[in-house]
Amino acid sequence: RNAREANLDDSQLVVVANRLPVDLEQLPDGTTRWKRSPGGLVTALEPVLRSNKGAWVGWPGVADVDVEPIVEDGLSMYPVRLSAQEIADYYEGFSNGTLWPLYHDVVVKPVYDRSWWNAYVKVNRRFAEETAKVARPNATVWIQDYQLQLVPKMLRMLRPDLTIGFFQHIPFPPIEIFMQLPWRAEIVEGLLGADLVGFHLPGGAQNFLYLANKLAGHTVTRGQIGVRSKFGEVNVGFRVVRVGAFPISIASSEIDELAKSKSVRARAKQIRAELGNPSRIMLGVDRLDYTKGINIRLLALSELFAEGRLDPADNVFVQLATPSRERVDHYMQMRDEIERNVGRINGDYGEVGRPVVHYIHRPIPRSELIAFFVAADVMLVTPVRDGMNLVAKEYVACRSDLGGALLLSEFTGAAMELRQSYLVNPHDLDGVKDTLIEALTQSKDEGRSRMRALRRQVLTHDVDKWAKAFLGALALPSEKS
Ligand code: ADP
Ligand code: G6P
Repeated sequence: RNAREANLDDSQLVVVANRLPVDLEQLPDGTTRWKRSPGGLVTALEPVLRSNKGAWVGWPGVADVDVEPIVEDGLSMYPVRLSAQEIADYYEGFSNGTLWPLYHDVVVKPVYDRSWWNAYVKVNRRFAEETAKVARPNATVWIQDYQLQLVPKMLRMLRPDLTIGFFQHIPFPPIEIFMQLPWRAEIVEGLLGADLVGFHLPGGAQNFLYLANKLAGHTVTRGQIGVRSKFGEVNVGFRVVRVGAFPISIASSEIDELAKSKSVRARAKQIRAELGNPSRIMLGVDRLDYTKGINIRLLALSELFAEGRLDPADNVFVQLATPSRERVDHYMQMRDEIERNVGRINGDYGEVGRPVVHYIHRPIPRSELIAFFVAADVMLVTPVRDGMNLVAKEYVACRSDLGGALLLSEFTGAAMELRQSYLVNPHDLDGVKDTLIEALTQSKDEGRSRMRALRRQVLTHDVDKWAKAFLGALALPSEKS
C-alpha cells in the first residue's frame, strides 16, 4: 500500500536514518524486491518503530531511483533519493572514508576531502527537507547516526515546532582525535540543533559536552554523566540541549524465544553434524569491516594450531561475514587480507572435506544465524573499536541453556555491560590466545555461572528499555532554569 493512500504521512514519531530498514534490490531480470538492510542500527530500531507505528525517512540503498512511500505493518517508509555521485561523495566518501575511521580511533587514516564535505552538507539538507515535509505539527523526530549530524540544526531552522532527538550509534572519539576534523565546529553545531543528543557511553557524551564548550563557546554543566541518568546540559541561546548515555540493545526476549524453538534447536544440532561433530565450534558474526578485528581471530587461531595448543582436527572456526561498503578502498583491502588468511589456514591445517575455517561472505537469514549462535561453544567478538556490538548481546540472548562462552573485546561498548564475558585486549595477541584457550576449556559450572550473569544483564536491558529511556529524556520539559 501507498503511504498517502493509507493517510499515515502525518506521523507523530519520525525516525531519520541514512538507510531505510529495507534495501531495494535490483534483480538481473529488471524486477526489484525489498530485503532487510545490514547493520546494528536497523536490528535495534526496527522493532521499536514497528510497535510505535511511526515513520522512517531514509535512503533505499540504490542510486538514482524514485520510489513511492511504502507502508508495512503500520510503519511508513519515505525514501530519500541519492544520485550515484552523492553516494560516492556523501556515503562512501565523507561518511565512510572520513567520519567512520575518525570516530573509530583512526584505525585507518581518515581522508579529508572538501568535495566530500560539500556533498555531506547537501545531502544532510535534503534529509532535513524531506523530514520537514513528513513530520506533523509538534511531532517528535529522532535522527540517527554519524551520516546525518547536520540534520538536527537544519531541521530546527525549517521546523522550530518539532522536538528533535539525535542518537550516535558509533563511538564518539576522544577530543584530540575529533580535533583533526576540518569541519569540527560545524558538526558540533549541527548536533546542538537537537533537544537531546545521545551516545552509548558516558565517556562519549562527556567528550561531546566538552567540545560544545570548546568549539561552539556554549556554557555546559560540569557533573559526571550517568547511564540513562544525570544528563549533561548545554546552554544554546534560549534553549537547553541535554546530553546523555543510552547503551543500545536488542529485542532480547524475542531472540530468547526464537532460540528456544524446536526447529532452531534441531538446526543447531544439524550444523554441528555438518561441521563433522568437532569437540569445539568457534564462531564470528560480523559485517565485513576493518573495525571488527576479524584478522586478529584468524591470527590467534593459526598461532594456536602452529604451537600445537589447539588441535585442528577437533576445533573449527566459522566466520559469517556480511558484505559491507564494498566500494570503499580499505574494505576491499581488508577483504583480500582476510580471504588470504582463511585460505592459508585451511591450506596449512585443513584436510580434504574438512576445512578448519568455514567462511561465508553473504548475509545469513535470521533463524539460521540464531541456530549458529546456539551451536557455538565460543563466540569471538574482537573489534578494535565498536560503539556497542549487538552480536555479543544476541549470542547471550540465545543461550538459555547456559552453555557457550563469550570472548569479548574491551574496546566495544558492550564490554561495559557484559562484565562476565572473557574480556580481551585485541591488540595483545598473546592475551587473546590465552583467553581463548581458557574459554574453550572452561568448566561447565564456570560457564553456566558467567552465562547466567550475562543473561540477566541482556534480558533486563532490552532495546525497548533503550528507546523508552531516550524518548523519555527527550520528552522532559527543557525550560531554562
Ligand atoms: P554493526 O552495526 O557495526 O554492523 P552490530 O554487531 O551492532 O554491528 O550489529 C550487526 C547486526 O547485523 C546484528 O544484528 C547481526 O546479527 C547482524 N549480522 C552480522 N553479520 C551477519 C551475517 N553474516 N548475516 C546476517 N546478519 C548479520
Ligand atoms: C553501523 C552503522 C549504521 C549502518 C550499519 C551498516 O551499524 O552505525 O549506521 O547502517 O553499520 O552499514 P551501511 O553502511 O551498510 O549502512
